Amino acid sequence: MRPYILWAVCGVLLTACQQDPKKKETIKTPESTVVHTTQMVDDIQVNTIQIGGESNKDKNNFQASYPETKYDFINEIEKAQTLAFQKEFEDETKRATEDAVSGITFGRHFEILENSEHLLGFLHETYRSFGNTFSDEFQTNYYDLTERKQVQINDLFLSSKAFNTFATMVRKATSAELKKIVDADNTLDATDKVNMFKSLEPQIKEGTDAKPQNYSTVIFKSDSIQVIFNKYQVAPGNMGSITVKIAAQDLGNLFKEKYQVLFQLEKAPEVIPATEESKPVADNTDTKVPETILVDCGKVPCIALTFDDGPSVHTNRLLDILKSENVKATFFVLGKSAKIQPKTILRQHREGHVVANHSWNHKQLSKLTVGEVADQINNTNQAIENILDTKVAYLRPPYGAFNSDVKQVAKMPIILWSLDPLDWKDRNAETVAQRMLDVKADGIILAHDIHKSTVDAIPEVIKALKEKGFYFVTLDELYAGKTLVNGKVYNKR
Ligand code: NI
Repeated sequence: MRPYILWAVCGVLLTACQQDPKKKETIKTPESTVVHTTQMVDDIQVNTIQIGGESNKDKNNFQASYPETKYDFINEIEKAQTLAFQKEFEDETKRATEDAVSGITFGRHFEILENSEHLLGFLHETYRSFGNTFSDEFQTNYYDLTERKQVQINDLFLSSKAFNTFATMVRKATSAELKKIVDADNTLDATDKVNMFKSLEPQIKEGTDAKPQNYSTVIFKSDSIQVIFNKYQVAPGNMGSITVKIAAQDLGNLFKEKYQVLFQLEKAPEVIPATEESKPVADNTDTKVPETILVDCGKVPCIALTFDDGPSVHTNRLLDILKSENVKATFFVLGKSAKIQPKTILRQHREGHVVANHSWNHKQLSKLTVGEVADQINNTNQAIENILDTKVAYLRPPYGAFNSDVKQVAKMPIILWSLDPLDWKDRNAETVAQRMLDVKADGIILAHDIHKSTVDAIPEVIKALKEKGFYFVTLDELYAGKTLVNGKVYNKR
């Protein structure tokens, strides 16, 4: 199953994270000191760990994100889970022989499921690739903010009897779902189908038993509850992960009262029009950015600073630096992170930077099917356009990796870079700054606003390159007056 289905499911809840600007003062990151921007700080932000570079010369790659909230107990649990996943990646890469043909790519990303006064919930998607295909796994983490603890699925029910009743309902629904899948298989005749379904029964029973570990991925919606069973849990691996839906009206009274209210099981919430879903709370500021091109790169030497993989916990501090130096940049953002930090995206746009597409969750696009590539690109454009009311003009595929499918599906020019400072490798601001200073006129610098050290390097880079006579521009300015072709690849002016 594709993560984007879930992505669509969760959008409505984002509106819950916008309220109460006073609370934001207790947020520890970013280290923003500019008072007027605090209104524009998202209360949940993205921490990202990256191993392996943006250029696909690195054989093994790891990218995992976890939420930074104002609750230490949550941050600790989320970080620990991410570090455990990192250790798994490191163990796997150590085990792999030097001459192994395929590289190892691991990723872990989250979405906000629930963000209310008493409860926070995250959906994590974990993928692992040892070759050309990705295997996905899902997990939900719920936190009771009043009791300051993580809650397991069984904690939400009135009693163990209620949990059992729920499990029985899920078992029935799972049987029905798998029967549907078996029935739809044209390669089987009627007898095969009966036998096949019979052979699944023990696995369905075991996989749906009322044990918390069987219900590690549960998504609450206003009208239903979705249970996702990872690959192999209730069916053979070739059937993938299985999603089962139970109508809320069938189980509302099984939950503890406080959770019934939180999950809005009793009455559906107000319907929010689709286009309004992930828009940050409107204030009176004009969202329009002046479209005048200030610098003519045909006449003066230009440099385009580009930042990939964000937004993150470090992005607002970077925006403060760029603002104080009056430097405009281009941000190649991940769709899933844009959705978590819409205020940061809006701030980038309002302050004159260009926001562009770096895929939904940093999968290597050249390893995906055409349909998956289209989802990665289009869902990210949609997420940005929901926030900004502006068309996304550029694509930078993760790892700079593309094939003819990617070029075809992109419907945007593909922008790479002329200078890679390897800022993922050396987390030292001075080293990163020195490498960036080698950039040539009309070049594009690759940087990542997910690393603290990269943001630390930027003041020095700006100062030194300004002294050399360079002008910092967005990609719009760098390519002003030139016609870029969709699907064509560019790495400088
Ligand atoms: Ni990237």
